[in-house]
Amino acid sequence: MKSKSSFVCTECEYKSIKWMGKCPSCGTWNSLEEVVEVSESAGLQKRVAVRSNPPVLLDEYDMPEYMRFETGYGELDRVLGGGLVHGSVVLISGEPGIGKSTLLMQICNILGQKRTVLYVSGEESCGQLKLRAKRLGVKSDKLFLLTETNIDVILSECDKLKPDVLIVDSVQTVYTDRFTSAPGSITQVREGALACITKAKSEGLSVILVGHVNKEGGISGPKVLEHMVDAVLYFEGERRQSYRIIRAIKNRFGSTNEIGVFEMTDEGLTEVANPSEAMLSDRPKNVSGNCAVCVMEGTRPIIAEVQALVTQTPFSSPRRTANGIDYNRMCLVIAVLEKRLGLKFYQNDVYLNVTGGLRLDEPSADLAIALALISGITDRVLPDDLIAFGEIGLSGECRAVSHFDYRVKESSRLGFNTIVFPKKNSKKLPVGIKANIFDISNLYDTLKLLKEPKNQEV
Ligand code: TYD
Ligand code: MG
Repeated sequence: MKSKSSFVCTECEYKSIKWMGKCPSCGTWNSLEEVVEVSESAGLQKRVAVRSNPPVLLDEYDMPEYMRFETGYGELDRVLGGGLVHGSVVLISGEPGIGKSTLLMQICNILGQKRTVLYVSGEESCGQLKLRAKRLGVKSDKLFLLTETNIDVILSECDKLKPDVLIVDSVQTVYTDRFTSAPGSITQVREGALACITKAKSEGLSVILVGHVNKEGGISGPKVLEHMVDAVLYFEGERRQSYRIIRAIKNRFGSTNEIGVFEMTDEGLTEVANPSEAMLSDRPKNVSGNCAVCVMEGTRPIIAEVQALVTQTPFSSPRRTANGIDYNRMCLVIAVLEKRLGLKFYQNDVYLNVTGGLRLDEPSADLAIALALISGITDRVLPDDLIAFGEIGLSGECRAVSHFDYRVKESSRLGFNTIVFPKKNSKKLPVGIKANIFDISNLYDTLKLLKEPKNQEV
């Protein structure tokens, strides 16, 4: 077999024939890795992921009945777009210890009632897997365990067992003898994943791959991995906190906006059906710098709390940290508050945090961020039952948000009696809402919401 090697950047896939310390394309240091390319005749011809079939008319194609099956966890099924699709390949990634193996073992319990499942682990022994399964109360007579890292052996076992679901934990541990590079290298990860995808597409087997993340938080291995699979799910959350959020970064069979919320307990992961209540538990009362917000995560409104701590800075350039909020978005809101309301943030350090480990990516969180910052710097408290949502423009104007009625109803359901929102949304206010409403057109209007400073009870 004729093969030649080249060096590929793990970050941007820049290709070079010789090794370099720094990638000339993206500037990352030490990211070039040797990749052995197989000559065309030996490799590429075999790499047809889907079996070639003659063209078929859309109207005449008979769709198989078993297109989706549920994993038993509504939170995960929603993220998958309604269940695991037959013949699909799903990549689940996340930081070490976040609970990927735990979640997969738990879904085996339900999948393994009716279907044959092969759980391949390259990281734990059968004894360790059994121990975890016992702890999680997994009982199935159709669940098979295999500790193997050679992908060719894994697939030949698959041929013998003919499982409906194959779980590979993790794709970074599998390797093939056809290449000499170490497991976890670009070539090995790509070949391992490709072998699984080919199997899935040709035999209608559903495959779940576990992927490790690199130090920047991306999925380690080749970038093409994300293009090759049907869905990429990301499991996130603060390891020290109990909430875990699963979101789809890519999904060929559903929306990528949905999230699923779980809680890590002694008995494994349990679903959190009502995330807003969970995010608001242990909420401090009558404290400056706090403001509740309602964001949309897919089709679901979720309430979280933004906390801002604003303290006088001893440094010449003040400190800014943002946890759960985009750093640049925080800087933008601070700049608008400085310019439009004359607040002196340049003399203060700012620490922003979102409780419950949620990430607020939506611009509708701007208003709550601004209110938390105003409350933090003035030390005036916002009413405890106040909730705010709205996008802020650079002139300090408040812009309309989408899914307005969902947000108002969820806020009202959770007992928020003071709702602050953009004036442009006020025409669509749902009927029968008893809360005090403040529709505002710019940031000046928010100042009247702050209560006089008083002794704080924490
Ligand atoms: P694990 O699924 O092994 O993580 P990953 O596969 O993503 O690396 O999860 C390990 C963590 O989960 C570990 O820190 C302990 C915790 N855990 C519980 O809190 N309860 C449980 O019932 C189990 C099985 C794990
Ligand atoms: Mg694991």
